[in-house]
Amino acid sequence: MKPMRKRFSLFCALLFSLAVHANEIAVAPSVSPDGLTPLGETWLEANPYRGQAAAVAIGRAAYNQACARCHGVDAATNTAPAPDLRQINRYCRRIADRELNAACMRDNDAWFAKSVRNGKVIVGVSHMPAWQGVLKQELAWAIQVFIETQAATGRE
Ligand code: HEC
Repeated sequence: MKPMRKRFSLFCALLFSLAVHANEIAVAPSVSPDGLTPLGETWLEANPYRGQAAAVAIGRAAYNQACARCHGVDAATNTAPAPDLRQINRYCRRIADRELNAACMRDNDAWFAKSVRNGKVIVGVSHMPAWQGVLKQELAWAIQVFIETQAATGRE
């Protein structure tokens, strides 16, 4: 085989194996959102459940079914090369000013929801499946509340 063609077929083989390993399907967790205020179909921009104990318990169950295989059991150990989700609002946690802190958290919430809904597709390879239409928004926000309780004990 000519060197150019060989390089091209190696490149194709690499793309194919990346796609096969990385393309994952989002499977809805079998966790009931009962106990959480129903939110309907239109996604909110900010998390409505902070401080609610029911959200922590429901969020933990949903997280461990849907997210743990990549982001680590209980968001406490990383089992795959996926980001440590305890870190995602660390910038906000450092802001003492109440108003600025709230603005940072709102921004972080919108970004969390966007990441979860759209998944992560980078140069055509799916690193995380899209959860829009699979995961109820009640469960997504509860998962975020649960992750934040873990962040209290997480690395800075
Ligand atoms: C198939 C593995 C996989 C599953 C399952 C998965 N994720 Fe991810 N997730 C990833 C990877 C890999 C990234 C990093 C993608 C990138 O930016 O390169 C990521 C990124 C994220 C990010 C952005 C974090 C950052 O620092 O950029 C959030 C938020 C997130 N995932 C939340 C979730 C939630 C919530 C669930 C469960 C509903 C979930 N993920 C399930 C693999 C997964």
